Amino acid sequence: MMKVLVVGGAGYIGSHAVLELIKDHHNVLVFDNLTSGFEDMVSEHATLIVGDIRDKNALDNVFKKHNDIDVVMHFAAKIVVPESVEKPLEYYSNNVEGVRVLLESMQENNIKNIVFSSTAAVYGEASGVCFEDDNTNPINPYGRTKLMGENLLNDWSNAKQGRHAVALRYFNPVGADPSGEIGEDPYDTPNNLMPFISQTAVGRRDYLQVFGNDYDTRDGTCIRDYIHVCDLASAIVKAVEEGPTNTPYECLGSNTGWSVLEVLDVMEQVTGKKLNRVVAPRREGDAVASVVDKLSDFVTLSKSIEDMCLDQYKLEIGKNE
Ligand code: UD1
Repeated sequence: MMKVLVVGGAGYIGSHAVLELIKDHHNVLVFDNLTSGFEDMVSEHATLIVGDIRDKNALDNVFKKHNDIDVVMHFAAKIVVPESVEKPLEYYSNNVEGVRVLLESMQENNIKNIVFSSTAAVYGEASGVCFEDDNTNPINPYGRTKLMGENLLNDWSNAKQGRHAVALRYFNPVGADPSGEIGEDPYDTPNNLMPFISQTAVGRRDYLQVFGNDYDTRDGTCIRDYIHVCDLASAIVKAVEEGPTNTPYECLGSNTGWSVLEVLDVMEQVTGKKLNRVVAPRREGDAVASVVDKLSDFVTLSKSIEDMCLDQYKLEIGKNE
């Protein structure tokens, strides 16, 4: 059993990681400023501390009170690409300065292990398979802040023996815990494909906008590597449980690509609903295709694309009840 501090544990991926940690009988503390996370997404078996990772005092207090924390898991980031273009300073503050302060507080309180949430967006304009060792070349502020976070971690862990840091580059997490109780932000307009499709399936939207159908892909729409958030969470927890890796980063995806139209088809199949779609212009900054070249040893794929769609749909139904 480990004692784990999950920063950002009230958000989409963090809350699923918390469930997974609890399933494996770890002792879980959540630290979250609740700006994009929700209190009711935190498992009742975890202790929630409300605070911001840029607030060093708040972090110091946590580490002083719990001086037996084995590892910190970091999920407390801002992740919306267009917003990062409009408000870069907020992204650098939260995603870079936040990581620096967190590391500083960990260092002063003698905490040596951290697992960091990074993203496939560090690869930039992917046009097919992403090889783990491909050069990084993020094309928007969000991706750049994540890459800077990785570099910070790397430099910090290299500076002193005994420190361990790994960055996990997530591809496209979708779906929700089948309980239907936790998932993505229920209130705001979504940013990603799957919530838009599920809102279309429950009738909250009349149609899905397909952002471009003239890409050089099998059906003209962009291809992504979707992974069920529960499979992702279990991979992240496995990375924590197995202890320090030899590599500074690791890609977590499903190693399979689906186009926008293919995901729509699967959602139609599993829900039995006809989903209207309208072809819209390409979305700026979209990669043509982004699929990881191999399955990480941490990943076990227990959920199919059908499960991903169905769980996302169930979550949406729950919100609209
Ligand atoms: C996006 C970010 C990525 C980030 C991730 C976080 C961009 C360019 N990338 O990933 O850096 O890590 O979110 O969750 O924003 N689509 C439609 N109609 C819609 C919505 C999306 O056709 O209404 C298409 C998009 O054009 C894209 C695919 O669906 O081809 C997936 O989009 P999305 O779910 O937003 O994920 P990414 O763009 O891959």
